[in-house]
Amino acid sequence: MNTKIFHLYLQSLLFVLISFVPFLCFCLDTDTLTSNITFRDSDTIISGRHVFKLGFFSPPNNTNRYLAVFYNVSEETAVWIANRDRPLNDSSGTVTFSRNGNLVLTNGRNETLWSTNVTDTYPRNTSAQIHDNGNLVLRDTTTGSMIWESFAYPSHVLLPTMRITDNIYTRHKVILTTWINGSDPEPGSWTSGLEALNVPQIFIWNNGRPHWRSGPWNGMILSGVPDMYSPYLAAFSLWNDSTGTFYYTPHETTFLMRITHNTTGNLVQTMWNIQQRNWDITWVAIENQCDVYQTCGPFGSCNIRDTPICSCIRGFEPVNTEEWENGNWTSGCARRRQLQCSLSSNTSGNGDGFLRLPFTKVPDFAERFPSREPNVCRTRCMSNCSCIAYAHDPYIGCMSWSEPLVDFQRFNGVGIDLFLRLEASELDNNSDRMLVIIIPVVVGFAAISFVIIIAWFWNKRKDTKVFETEHVISSDSSAIVLKDETEKVNVEELPLFSFETLSNATYQFHENYLLGKGGFGLVYKGYLENGNVIAVKRLSAASGQGTEEFMNEVVVISKLQHRNLVRLIGCCVEGEEKMLIYEYMTNKSLDGCLFDPNHPSQKILDWKKRFNIIESIGRGLLYLHRDSRLKIIHRDLKPSNVLLDEDWNPKISDFGMARIFGGNEDFGNTSRVVGTYGYMAPEYAMEGRFSEKSDVYSFGVLMLEIVSGKKNTHYYNQELSLSLLGCAWKLWNEENGLDFVDRTIDSSNFEEEIVRCIHIALLCVQEFPNDRPSIQTVLSMLSREIVDLPMPEQPVFAEKWNRSHVGTGTTQQSSQIGYPYSNDLTITVLDGR
Ligand SMILES: *[C@@H]1O[C@H](CO)[C@@H](O)[C@H](O)[C@H]1NC(C)=O
Ligand SMILES: *[C@@H]1O[C@H](CO)[C@@H](O)[C@H](O)[C@H]1NC(C)=O
Ligand SMILES: *[C@@H]1O[C@H](CO)[C@@H](O)[C@H](O)[C@H]1NC(C)=O
Ligand SMILES: *[C@@H]1O[C@H](CO)[C@@H](O)[C@H](O)[C@H]1NC(C)=O
Ligand SMILES: *[C@@H]1O[C@H](CO)[C@@H](O)[C@H](O)[C@H]1NC(C)=O
Ligand SMILES: *[C@@H]1O[C@H](CO)[C@@H](O)[C@H](O)[C@H]1NC(C)=O
Repeated sequence: MNTKIFHLYLQSLLFVLISFVPFLCFCLDTDTLTSNITFRDSDTIISGRHVFKLGFFSPPNNTNRYLAVFYNVSEETAVWIANRDRPLNDSSGTVTFSRNGNLVLTNGRNETLWSTNVTDTYPRNTSAQIHDNGNLVLRDTTTGSMIWESFAYPSHVLLPTMRITDNIYTRHKVILTTWINGSDPEPGSWTSGLEALNVPQIFIWNNGRPHWRSGPWNGMILSGVPDMYSPYLAAFSLWNDSTGTFYYTPHETTFLMRITHNTTGNLVQTMWNIQQRNWDITWVAIENQCDVYQTCGPFGSCNIRDTPICSCIRGFEPVNTEEWENGNWTSGCARRRQLQCSLSSNTSGNGDGFLRLPFTKVPDFAERFPSREPNVCRTRCMSNCSCIAYAHDPYIGCMSWSEPLVDFQRFNGVGIDLFLRLEASELDNNSDRMLVIIIPVVVGFAAISFVIIIAWFWNKRKDTKVFETEHVISSDSSAIVLKDETEKVNVEELPLFSFETLSNATYQFHENYLLGKGGFGLVYKGYLENGNVIAVKRLSAASGQGTEEFMNEVVVISKLQHRNLVRLIGCCVEGEEKMLIYEYMTNKSLDGCLFDPNHPSQKILDWKKRFNIIESIGRGLLYLHRDSRLKIIHRDLKPSNVLLDEDWNPKISDFGMARIFGGNEDFGNTSRVVGTYGYMAPEYAMEGRFSEKSDVYSFGVLMLEIVSGKKNTHYYNQELSLSLLGCAWKLWNEENGLDFVDRTIDSSNFEEEIVRCIHIALLCVQEFPNDRPSIQTVLSMLSREIVDLPMPEQPVFAEKWNRSHVGTGTTQQSSQIGYPYSNDLTITVLDGR
């Protein structure tokens, strides 16, 4: 679930190795068992590409024999066990087929210890095949249909493409069950699985009681798992079918990955490290006491950075003060002042209001109501007396709570905002307000330290690098990297605006002047007294920078001058307020023009304009990479970060500072963003490494979007079963490149140029950064200073991009939860909502 220790490239290498090196073993030379083979204790069958084996094994400190599927590279690691509770005490085990086609495990006394137990009684011929994903599949040899698969009966390990499920009507669940202890695979007391009622979540249960909860699935990630808010691929998906069954699955990977439910009840994600030949832990579900379900009792709030970790939510006090102070938090907290159940009126102070608690793992037992409007959630909650809190997420819609709030956690810089209903007098308190301000600031600093630690971690691992990286990880959340560290900046050089001026310019930050909401705050349109139109980005305190660093950075950016970069014209720092002032761009962002079918500009963007946009963005990028005195990696290049002036000249925005100025990010508060799915280069997405070449990758995706008029993240070609990149690759290879082009473009006179653009884009989206051209080379290719283009490699995300279509392919009607095809949801990473 996280990117800490990925070695994607090493891992793929491993695959190449294990695919072609002939393997020494006493294996039957096949991946399939048929009724004419007798399979005994010493036999194994190996999957086609030598990834998984089926055979007998003994756990550590245990002489019993078990029929199991395990990795070929690491034999002691069983991922599925047939006879968990009926071990063989000698090596007399034999696997045969019964008359009705079941696979049967018998011992020396001819007793059946385990069987696939498919109950159809008619005689038939079957065969069992071990697949490269670890699935053991039993098929009817005459019809070819699958009658049983080991993936439907998981043991303690979840593998890529395996699914845990929950049927909301029958309540049938497919779950993981731990071993009793490290040497006995018998099912233990811990289980883990999906709970799909209301808002789907993953749980760990101990004897059926919740022990850990992932927080609601929000269409992309599990919102209560902080590690998932990081630059990583959409590595999991959740969907439902027409029978009411919900599925949760890790996507196929090119490296060996598994999630194990271990005997102490924790879910642990590991990846095979080919160099050290061991498993690296990349994620654990329960990291600290706060992750344990209900640690702080009802209405308690857990924050691992506090001492003690538990406190009562504002407006609540411990039920039993003595117990609470002794660190027994089980009875939780109770409300100090009863709710009035009427709207707050300013004069008398009576009534109720809402307190915003940012960055949370929302409590359990959310009820769901689909709505894209945060205000609808508020109104609905206010109008129902039993509603005590609400939250809004662009995918989930409204969540509301009427039960006591349990398993509530505060995170640092990631998570959902919870709005808590309180009696009005609890809200007016000044100290409350201070707290609301202070917490995000502290949290922001914590987030920065986290980034520094990660950066240090990666630097430390530099010796293992496998490809060139002009390795740059900055020490804060922005992307600025100084070529010359000693460069001094003078704060006074940038025009400073007073708060009052900006407040007047934006009519006291009136919502009618709101242009968009972005990662670090809101963007308003403003009118200066001299008549100039400006865009004011009002940073929320959560941007987490100290004033000095903020000013340094702002000044650095203000020195960037290029016609294809949005110009910063000033800033404002007064007290808690930090604001950035930009030039206003009449035609807003490129994504509106490209992807909104009703947008009037659609027809305006003919090929010439599009080509100009491509070239100009390239020039802006070149300036960031090479020409400015600083080297700046944008890291989040995408259509919504490209703004268009009145002449349709593109200007890159959000370089360095933050992605706040994103044109029409009308949904939610996408703070903490560092990248966007679909635009991130594989090495950035998987390993967090970024370089100029990751920007080139994003630029390649952008080019394909401009040519096709389709959005990479929302596009899936049903007919060809291909993502946008895959489509471009396929059509271009078949010399049908023009079929890829947006229908609204009249391509008649530009066929050659368009196809050449697709070709160049494909060079940019190649898997290995070294293979991608630099932006300078790209520009030379576009301008034909370089005439002959090399052949691109197939892009790595060509096949499987779209989340809802990944899986083992046996479900029919799959549909995703939420609003997967809603407008521009920046699935941003390091970036919650
Ligand atoms: C084992 O039992 C089955 C039926 O229970 C029988 O058909 C088979 O012949 C037996 N095999 C041996 C080796 O005794
Ligand atoms: C594991 O559990 C089994 C059965 O409960 C028990 O016999 C065995 O001693 C245990 N082993 C260890 C190492 O605890
Ligand atoms: C599956 O999900 C879709 C989309 O959310 C929904 O319309 C449908 O009712 C769901 N099916 C079931 C059986 O819950
Ligand atoms: C289970 O995983 C957690 C987290 O990695 C670890 O602390 C614990 O020791 C593991 N338990 C066992 C029995 O390996
Ligand atoms: C904590 O308090 C609860 C409720 O009063 C009580 O049942 C429980 O035994 C206490 N736990 C400890 C460890 O003292
Ligand atoms: C108020 O909320 C409760 C709990 O969600 C629900 O059962 C009840 O129907 C709601 N009442 C109204 C009037 O909507």
